[in-house]
Amino acid sequence: MGAVMDLSLKEIFAEIGGQPNSCSLREYCAWARHVQSVPTCRLLVFGVGRDSTAWREVNRGNSTLFLENDEEWIKRVTAEIGSEHIRTMDYGQTFEEWKETDFSEQAVLLPDMADPPFDGSWDCAFVDAPWGPTFGRHQSTHAATCAIKPGGLIALHDCEREREQIVCKILLEGRGYELVEEIERLRIYRAPG
Ligand SMILES: C[S@@+](CC[C@H](N)C(=O)[O-])C[C@H]1O[C@@H](n2cnc3c(N)ncnc32)[C@H](O)[C@@H]1O
Repeated sequence: MGAVMDLSLKEIFAEIGGQPNSCSLREYCAWARHVQSVPTCRLLVFGVGRDSTAWREVNRGNSTLFLENDEEWIKRVTAEIGSEHIRTMDYGQTFEEWKETDFSEQAVLLPDMADPPFDGSWDCAFVDAPWGPTFGRHQSTHAATCAIKPGGLIALHDCEREREQIVCKILLEGRGYELVEEIERLRIYRAPG
């Protein structure tokens, strides 16, 4: 027969939601509904993990690209989804270095990578990396704002933390992004049109 069963969002995320270092099931389903509401959605995801296969399933038939800095996680997830959907990048600017600039919007560096996809062509970007205690999410969030189209959506996870709240205030709200939904630790913003 070869027919592919359509899974519900709850089914897609059932085993991942609420796991350590993952989003909750409610957070995953809320963001996934936004992604699925965009026809032919181009989805950019900062960070790979247990949820990478799920995001490909949510956005099946459309483009989903993952950006990751940790070689071990790249290897793990490449074994699951193949290498063509994952690109290596480096974060070079710590949150403390950004703080020393008084959180200047202009001082944020883009992550370093070959052929960066930060080109205003993406509909949705999910910022769930880098890993919290390492670099901070100012570079990934800044890159997301460069990557998405006018009116596109950015979701940022772990917004219960002070660092992520500063990122939201300066790099999203300060640039005219509108908070469209907040679910537990996840904030979803729309870019100005
Ligand atoms: C908060 S984790 C992202 C977690 C991921 N969304 C998941 O499904 O578990 C951010 C970064 O930590 C690493 N990472 C991914 N999954 C992880 C996990 N389960 N535990 C610890 N670190 C993880 C990767 O380098 C990733 O870019």
